[in-house]
Amino acid sequence: MTHPSPWPVRADGLLFRDAVEADVQTLQSFRNDPGINRFMVRTHVDPDDLRREWLAVPESPTDFSCVVERDGEVVAMGFLDVVDGPGQPGCPSGTDGLIGYIVDPRVAGQGIGSATALALLRAAFDGLGLRRVTAAAYADNTASVAVLEQAGMRRERLSVKALWHHELGWIDEVGYALLADEWRHGPG
Ligand SMILES: CC(C)(COP(=O)(O)OP(=O)(O)OC[C@H]1O[C@@H](n2cnc3c(N)ncnc32)[C@H](O)[C@@H]1OP(=O)(O)O)[C@@H](O)C(=O)NCCC(=O)NCCS
Repeated sequence: MTHPSPWPVRADGLLFRDAVEADVQTLQSFRNDPGINRFMVRTHVDPDDLRREWLAVPESPTDFSCVVERDGEVVAMGFLDVVDGPGQPGCPSGTDGLIGYIVDPRVAGQGIGSATALALLRAAFDGLGLRRVTAAAYADNTASVAVLEQAGMRRERLSVKALWHHELGWIDEVGYALLADEWRHGPG
């Protein structure tokens, strides 16, 4: 299945759009911040890789990540990947989504993470027509857990010492999900 891009979108005073070359320096300026890498599996992104990966997104059939602009400044990045379901024979492909987000620490605590999670869910369900969206966070990532729960996502699992962090060692991870029906009609 091919999907048209769900961006650009304006919501909550923010513009969610594809990244362009002029954004790269700003993305590089906060992606490797130690406060961010404390909560990321990928604890360092080479600046050249970052440029290449973000500028390739608009041509990707599965990567619908976006940058988040407020008053003309890029303040966050949102990740939205279309992924396959569990893969049993006959299982349709490209039905599910995986979301994530990083907010520039200079503007943390201003609602941008929460607004980004909602925009990603809206893009996944209403824009791309996906069936199920998941997200994961380190279990001690209080801010991200708050973002996911306020967005209405359902906690599905606690995976004990499931992830490796190069400074922290083995880390507990929580997994969240939401189905399209739950997005449209609420729990139950
Ligand atoms: C997680 C993150 C995206 C939150 O973004 P944000 O814009 O600061 O979040 P918001 O302002 O929307 O706040 C969301 C909630 O988290 C809470 N929160 C924010 N920062 C917090 C912190 N450091 N500790 C505890 N709670 C925090 C807020 O109080 C708010 O809850 P409330 O509405 O009940 O008050 C941001 O902290 C970040 O980029 N962290 C590093 C990268 C990361 O962890 N990404 C997610 C990987 S799974």
